[in-house]
Amino acid sequence: MEWFAHALSYVRISMNFINIYAIIAIIFAFYVAKYVGDKIMKYPPGPVSLPLIGNYFQLTGSESLHKKLLTIWKQYGSIYRLNILGYNFVIINGHELIREALVNKGDSFRFRPISFPSCLGQGIIWSNGEEWHKFRKILQFASRDVSLGRHVMEEYIMEGVQNVAEEMITSMEQPTRLKNIIQKAVLNVFCKYILRVRYNFDDRLFIKLLESIQTISDSALSKFPESFQTFNPIIPLSLQTKIENKKYREAVDTVKGVILNIMKEIMRIPSGQKEGLIGKLLKDKDTSITEDQLVGVLVDILTHGFEASSSCILWCFLYLLQNSDVQRHCRMEIAEKIGFKRPISYKDKDALHFINATISEVQRISTPDPISRPYYTQETVVVEGYTIPSGSHVLFHTYSAHMDHTYWKRPHEFRPKHFLDMAGNLTKHEAFFPFGIGPRSCTGEAFASQTVFLFVSNMLQRFQFMSPVGEQAPSAERDHVASRYPDNFALCAIPSEL
Ligand code: HEM
Ligand SMILES: *[C@@H]1O[C@H](CO)[C@@H](O)[C@H](O)[C@H]1NC(C)=O
Ligand SMILES: *[C@@H]1O[C@H](CO)[C@@H](O)[C@H](O)[C@H]1NC(C)=O
Repeated sequence: MEWFAHALSYVRISMNFINIYAIIAIIFAFYVAKYVGDKIMKYPPGPVSLPLIGNYFQLTGSESLHKKLLTIWKQYGSIYRLNILGYNFVIINGHELIREALVNKGDSFRFRPISFPSCLGQGIIWSNGEEWHKFRKILQFASRDVSLGRHVMEEYIMEGVQNVAEEMITSMEQPTRLKNIIQKAVLNVFCKYILRVRYNFDDRLFIKLLESIQTISDSALSKFPESFQTFNPIIPLSLQTKIENKKYREAVDTVKGVILNIMKEIMRIPSGQKEGLIGKLLKDKDTSITEDQLVGVLVDILTHGFEASSSCILWCFLYLLQNSDVQRHCRMEIAEKIGFKRPISYKDKDALHFINATISEVQRISTPDPISRPYYTQETVVVEGYTIPSGSHVLFHTYSAHMDHTYWKRPHEFRPKHFLDMAGNLTKHEAFFPFGIGPRSCTGEAFASQTVFLFVSNMLQRFQFMSPVGEQAPSAERDHVASRYPDNFALCAIPSEL
């Protein structure tokens, strides 16, 4: 029987060889077929995506995602494909192509990916179709209504400015960490604007609310819900990810709870006196919108609106510390145009071109929201000759437009002059859209601009800001996964001499 065992092992060895060759051949054939198929179908190009791990290796490392996407843009052009977390993404770069897709073909880019966990799906940012359209319309109506009472909004914001100024004065020119102070002041402005309540800074509920919103903003889940369902053999859906998902859900529940309680209170008041965005929404909403849905919309605004606005204000201070000449120029403009006798109001904005240009330049170079949330195509779309099949996840890379060498003279330099012409008048830019463009652009732009302008200009009127002695100005380089939030840097505030 020995010959039989021999024969068997021989067969086994050759089978092994055949298997290996066959597998290699099949994989090779698969890639060739895929390559040819992609060319024929005119799918966007992109780095080779490996089985199971996709483009994991292109995306790991310490550099943040929006910077890696810039590198790939240089290699593959303005529209390319990447496999992230097991999903095929099409990424669109540069201001021209982003505009072509979101403005000229905006109808095809109105949808978010569906079938993600319900804690994301109930608000406006992740909703789709009829529901989304309804939310967006009533939100625009209600914000317009609240904005008509401009002076009221301005009052809320100025209370926040006053809180920060008081903290600065009590710090007696000693190094102070700005982040927590600005966050509490801005969150209170949002609480007043949206929920018509104002909290004490050391109120336990208020602190819990701030922590929960931070947990939500810090998580990649708030920008890429795909990461909820990721399967990755290199980073398996580990215990840690599960804990993170759970923390995220709990944070969302906390914010929801706060809003729901206030909503119940408001519903007890007669309809004539409903204040704040929440009151307006309750009054205007038709019966097809449930309370749950309204809470979802408010959670979205409170978390995203607060995060983006507070981040933008902190970036302004960071760049003002780094660029003392720009800060001096801003303060000179205030001295010339407004003086120091009265606070700056939003009406003064038209006289303060340089401050406007400085804030715009901060929004360009820092781009607090560098990559759009994923869009989802429900039909085949052709962009620049490339086919984006129905069912694709699409990302718009706003940061690439703000850093576009073909458009900006020196994109990596902080130069408010990017936004001023020779006569010192403000210039508009096609390649500048910090609030997004197209059908799903930001509905809170007016409120955000007002908040940022009043905080920054009034603080510049009252104080000169410096980095603590012996410390370098804070760096802009540390990055987070999906949003950009400055480090918790320190500064000294020297009151203006009157
Ligand atoms: C400086 C502050 C802000 C910035 C830079 C900003 C930026 C953006 C961007 C880029 C988008 C589009 C997101 C995407 O396509 O992925 C967006 C959406 C949105 N923003 Fe803002 N935002 C800010 C403040 C606010 C505020 C204060 C509010 C509300 C009062 C607000 C409400 C919204 C809403 C509701 C959407 C979703 C619109 C939709 O999906 O139809 N934002 N924001
Ligand atoms: C600057 O002024 C323009 C034109 O008035 C306005 O649209 C824009 O929102 C302002 N930007 C900032 C950052 O205030
Ligand atoms: C710049 O502004 C001044 C007044 O502020 C105006 O007279 C002039 O026409 C503006 N220049 C341009 C090129 O728009």
